[in-house]
Amino acid sequence: MATLGNTFPPEIASGIDWLRVKELEEQQRSLLHSVVCGFNQMLDLRDLNTGIHSTRLAEWALRVARKLGLPEGDLYQLEVAALLHDIGKIGIPDAILRKEGKLTEEERRLMNKHPEYSWSILRLFPGLEKTSLYALHHHESFDGRGYPGGLKGDEIPTGSRIVSVIDAYDAMISNRCYRKGLPHEEAVRRLSAGGGTQFDPIVVRAFLEIAGQEVADVFAATGASPSAVI
Ligand SMILES: [Fe+2]
Repeated sequence: MATLGNTFPPEIASGIDWLRVKELEEQQRSLLHSVVCGFNQMLDLRDLNTGIHSTRLAEWALRVARKLGLPEGDLYQLEVAALLHDIGKIGIPDAILRKEGKLTEEERRLMNKHPEYSWSILRLFPGLEKTSLYALHHHESFDGRGYPGGLKGDEIPTGSRIVSVIDAYDAMISNRCYRKGLPHEEAVRRLSAGGGTQFDPIVVRAFLEIAGQEVADVFAATGASPSAVI
């Protein structure tokens, strides 16, 4: 797991016993980590974590971020965003969340509120300020047609562009009670087709290099179908 950077600025830390500062930082990190794990567990219990294991998605997000040169200090917040970006779905009624048919316009309007709800939860935690922004913008579209801000291209935080790709991949390959997940190859085709419109093409390329290699390795080891190995 990525680590959260030092949380006490040097001008404050200089006047205090350094070992005590380190101890407090460690306690703060540990507390935040417990909160993140607890929230993730809550999403599992509410069946809001879909498909492939959420920690694997978070690991892929980190690897994409490193490949794209995201600052080391932002990685922990990205990892948390990969795990908790949909936590705002807690605020969406089950009748909408679990509806099998097409959503009405009003239902869609409510459903599209979930990134803002995620932001409103995550922003309350010191040390997760960037996480809350990554979550807020994870449904923006590279061409500006997404929500909630209608941001486009580089206006969208890189962390959000990464979460957007892994989230879409997860949604595509996951089984639902009303439909079977797509095979890996079809998900790859759709992600590639969406590069430059819905998704950042650079993020898509980096993600597919990482996920593709891992899927191929597992496939080679198990002899299973690539649609079933994750
Ligand atoms: Fe979402």
